[in-house]
Amino acid sequence: MTGSVKTDNQSTGIGLLGLGVVGSAVANAVSQRHRSEDPSVSLNVVAAVVRDASRKRDVTIDPCAISTKPETVIANPEVGIVVELMGGVDPAFDYITSALNAGQHVVTANKEVMAKHGGELLATADENNVCLYYEASVAGGIPIIGPLMNDLTANKIQSVRGIINGTTNFILTKMSNEGAEFNDVLAEAQELGYAESDPTADVDGFDALYKISILARLAYHTEVPVDVIHREGIREIHAKDFRYASELGYTIKLLAVAQANADSGLLARVHPALIPLDVPMASVNGVLNAVEVEGDLVGSLWFQGPGAGPNPTASAVMGDVLRIAKGAVNDGGSSSVPESFAIASMADHECQYYIRLTASDRPGVLANVARVLGDADISINSVLQKDTDTENGRADLVIMTHPAREANMQSAARSIRELDTVLQLDSLLRVETYGARS
Ligand code: HSE
Repeated sequence: MTGSVKTDNQSTGIGLLGLGVVGSAVANAVSQRHRSEDPSVSLNVVAAVVRDASRKRDVTIDPCAISTKPETVIANPEVGIVVELMGGVDPAFDYITSALNAGQHVVTANKEVMAKHGGELLATADENNVCLYYEASVAGGIPIIGPLMNDLTANKIQSVRGIINGTTNFILTKMSNEGAEFNDVLAEAQELGYAESDPTADVDGFDALYKISILARLAYHTEVPVDVIHREGIREIHAKDFRYASELGYTIKLLAVAQANADSGLLARVHPALIPLDVPMASVNGVLNAVEVEGDLVGSLWFQGPGAGPNPTASAVMGDVLRIAKGAVNDGGSSSVPESFAIASMADHECQYYIRLTASDRPGVLANVARVLGDADISINSVLQKDTDTENGRADLVIMTHPAREANMQSAARSIRELDTVLQLDSLLRVETYGARS
């Protein structure tokens, strides 16, 4: 069966692993395609594998095709393209590997398996001369993998920066617009179905980390293991950080970044960042995603759109399915690593920092903090004293630094926390550098 997708003269057999909201949207898109006027490609869902076959589903496929048996899809000669929409590593990794080894093409939306095992899976696809496509694994409906893999290959990529988690962008946007606190907005996002009941993957930055690992591998032809990516989530951001950031000309977003050059190596990082209000990324709001790619030939490119949801994700999945059904072949290069960057350490990253601390409102406090920063070779750009509480003798101090090295900043933060006059170091946020602005 290797490389051939047509199971008879007319139709390409599709096997679905997973039939949740995205799987159902894909199944419905396949059946619309089947009935469409375009005679060049005909698709047909042969089988769908689910965890619970008795569950009612709003999907236009023959109920007899739905079962809990992976063998109805994997290595079934009627199935030319396996579409994996289960998520997670186990059992998806084994299922994808078995399908590729059986000569089936695979389309997946699974960012975790592609981030943790993408290199190995792509090599397996190459060995078997079949395609493994994964456009839907990053930023849902936004085409970003295809451009990095095909259209931009002539460029040296200088940076890939994005808001690639819709849940956290929804939460941060609401916090910014309404002055609300994280926990309240998270509860609302959960009620609306934008956040999972266990929100860890989104709010602690794992989802964005998997996605930036995939983009970094493509942009820099370098394996970027998930455990070398710096990761921070958004739980520690407070409403007043948005207020103070706005006074300083910034908003706060969860940013995923991969940047590389021959001297400094490749650094990938996921963390909340202050973004200047006048750059486009600052205006990406709600559940929207956006990715900005800078290449030496093309300059700055901007991709924005729905990063999740059944139909946008089905759009990306179906794009991959149709490419294969129309005859795309594996050229043997999907796992090759022609250029490999050393992985840089977050400790060497340089940027401006926003520091918010609660301090005693008395003489010498600011001098103490300034001395600690000066000792760490960190220069202060500006200081605001806010929300002075004369009754309790405390105030918020908001300090913006000039660019400083991460290791120096972390060391200074430890010393600041030990100062008697500093009651709490509430926030330490990086300011994202854009062009000549900062
Ligand atoms: N949970 C993700 C998000 C969508 O909020 O963007 C799937 O990757």
